[in-house]
Amino acid sequence: MTLEPCAQVFAGKKTPPCVPALIRAGVTRLVVAHRDPNPEVDGAGIAGLRAAGIEVKLGVLAPQAARLNRGFLKWITTGRPYVILKAARTSDNFVAATMTGNRWFTSAESRRIVHRLRAEVDGVMIGRRTAQVDNPRLTVREADGAHPRRIVLDTRRALESALHLFTDGQAPTLRFSRGEGAATVTWGEQVGVGLGDTGLDLSQVLAELGKREFTSVLVEGGPRLHRSFLEAGLVDEIMLFTAPQPADRAVQGHDGLGNAVAIPADWHTEREADSGGDRLVISWSPEARARLDNLIALR
Ligand SMILES: NC(=O)c1ccc[n+]([C@@H]2O[C@H](COP(=O)([O-])OP(=O)(O)OC[C@H]3O[C@@H](n4cnc5c(N)ncnc54)[C@H](OP(=O)(O)O)[C@@H]3O)[C@@H](O)[C@H]2O)c1
Repeated sequence: MTLEPCAQVFAGKKTPPCVPALIRAGVTRLVVAHRDPNPEVDGAGIAGLRAAGIEVKLGVLAPQAARLNRGFLKWITTGRPYVILKAARTSDNFVAATMTGNRWFTSAESRRIVHRLRAEVDGVMIGRRTAQVDNPRLTVREADGAHPRRIVLDTRRALESALHLFTDGQAPTLRFSRGEGAATVTWGEQVGVGLGDTGLDLSQVLAELGKREFTSVLVEGGPRLHRSFLEAGLVDEIMLFTAPQPADRAVQGHDGLGNAVAIPADWHTEREADSGGDRLVISWSPEARARLDNLIALR
């Protein structure tokens, strides 16, 4: 198992605990990657299995499993989701290639990678301007898997109600705005938060998402939202696609489309690969890396 099985029933959870099921199933030997740091589990699952006479081997492929579980591990230890910032840029560092026509400028393979990631995370987030300009669905269409919940930051609730996020019924949408409290609406939920330096208070947004059991969030943009997250030190991982072609002249002459996100120098490069002609770099923040290293060292 990639994570220690739990022995107890959690309030509000539909699934029963694994340990009694494993004992009933007559399992004789169990290999577990790492312990569950949830204080209500931490070692109790393994103790329960051993008490029932099951041989337990702990610590096999722990770094690989912790990588897979990084969303859950951050959420269970901090109450906040793991934040992955996904950005695409042209070879000359613009966030768009042309002003008109097809807005995609990365490869089909890069798009598939993003759709696969959407299926793995609990939520996908965008800023008000991307919602307005691109009217995206943020669903999983080029991979298998469930659609993530959608999140949009719309300070003054200025977005039109006809956008796909509010009308397509594909997945619930959460709209964060300035205010207090939360209300259920036909397409999802509206949540009020305070203001921070660059717009809505992103720390509060993450805390509210954590309460709603979002263990991971993919921040798809645009650049303003990306910059705010980075400036606030709230990003765990950056996934940056760089296309081989430069932006056209119209884009180059346009204010505000340059300056795509850059990966901070002290971040750890987790992966560097070709993605259908684009260059893909995945980097972890020093804090995200230290969190996993500490966890693995303890187990
Ligand atoms: N290349 C890429 O990776 C990529 C990805 C996505 C989008 N895009 C492109 O980027 C463009 C839009 O990007 P953008 O930078 O102008 O806007 P954006 O990041 O999509 O949205 C920014 C808006 O979100 C709202 N917001 C609320 N709280 C915020 C906070 N704490 N920090 C930042 N924003 C907050 C603000 O609007 P209110 O105050 O009005 O609520 C703000 O103006 C589009 O052309 C889109 O196609 C590129």
